[in-house]
Amino acid sequence: MSGFLVKGPSGPLVAPLGSSVVLPCYVVEPLPMKDLEVEWRRTDSAILVHLYQDDESRPESQQQDYHDRAHFFIDQIQHGNFSLRLDNLRAEDDGRYTCRVYISGSDESVSVSVGEDVTLNCSVNSHITPEHIEEVSWKKTNEDILVLLYQNNKTLPDSSDERYRDRVEFFTAEIPKGNFSLRLKSVRTEDKGVYMCQVFAGGLSANATAVLGRMGES
Ligand SMILES: *[C@@H]1O[C@H](CO)[C@@H](O)[C@H](O)[C@H]1NC(C)=O
Ligand SMILES: *[C@@H]1O[C@H](CO)[C@@H](O)[C@H](O)[C@H]1NC(C)=O
Ligand SMILES: *[C@@H]1O[C@H](CO)[C@@H](O)[C@H](O)[C@H]1NC(C)=O
Repeated sequence: MSGFLVKGPSGPLVAPLGSSVVLPCYVVEPLPMKDLEVEWRRTDSAILVHLYQDDESRPESQQQDYHDRAHFFIDQIQHGNFSLRLDNLRAEDDGRYTCRVYISGSDESVSVSVGEDVTLNCSVNSHITPEHIEEVSWKKTNEDILVLLYQNNKTLPDSSDERYRDRVEFFTAEIPKGNFSLRLKSVRTEDKGVYMCQVFAGGLSANATAVLGRMGES
C-alpha cells in the first residue's frame, strides 16, 4: 500500500494513569514538507489537542489541559511520522484521537477572456491511491460556493452551485496521476476569484488554490 494514507494503531492503546503514551500517526511515503499542517483532535469533542502549523507547534491554539502534556516530535516529520506523546495520563484522556495532515499544493494565477474555457490546476505532489480518495471538492473561496463535488468515485453534478452547473468538467481519468484539475467553460466576469481544491484521502487532506485573475474582454 503506498503513500497517501495515514496509519494509526491497529487496536486500542492502554496505559496506566500518570504514565505516557505515544499515539501513532504516520505515512509510509514521505510528504512534501512545505506548508504541512498537522492537527490532533479528540474525535468525540473535536477539542484541539495539538496543532503544528507554519513550521512550529502552536500551543496558543490547543486546549489548555494539554499544554504541557502533549509532545509532538518535530524532528520526526521528515520521516512522515506525526505521532503525539501524551504525558501524565488522566482518566479524562480516555477516548478517541484523530490525526489529520494537511498539505498544500502550489498557488497559481491564471488569466482568461470572458467566454473562453479555462483549466484550473490542482495537482498534489504525493502518491494517492485512487481507491483511498473519499472526496474532492472545488470551492470558490471568497463566496464559499461549491463549484464541484466528487464523492464515492462519482462526480455529483447536482451539488454544484447553479452558477457552475453544466459549466464544469472534472477529469476522473486523471485522478491516479494526482491531477484534480477542473475545466471551467465559457468564463463569466463574476467567475473571477480564488478557487480551492481539497482532496480527502484516509486521514489526509490536501489542498491547492487557483486564482482566476485578470479578465479580459474578447
Ligand atoms: C515516531 O516517533 C516516535 C517518537 O520518536 C516513536 O516513538 C515512534 O516509534 C515513531 N513511529 C514511527 C512509525 O516511526
Ligand atoms: C471506488 O473505486 C475503488 C476501485 O477503483 C474501490 O476500491 C472503492 O471501494 C470505490 N469506492 C466506493 C465508495 O465505491
Ligand atoms: C490535468 O488534466 C487536464 C485534463 O486532461 C490537463 O489539461 C492538465 O494539463 C493536467 N494537469 C497536469 C498537471 O497534468
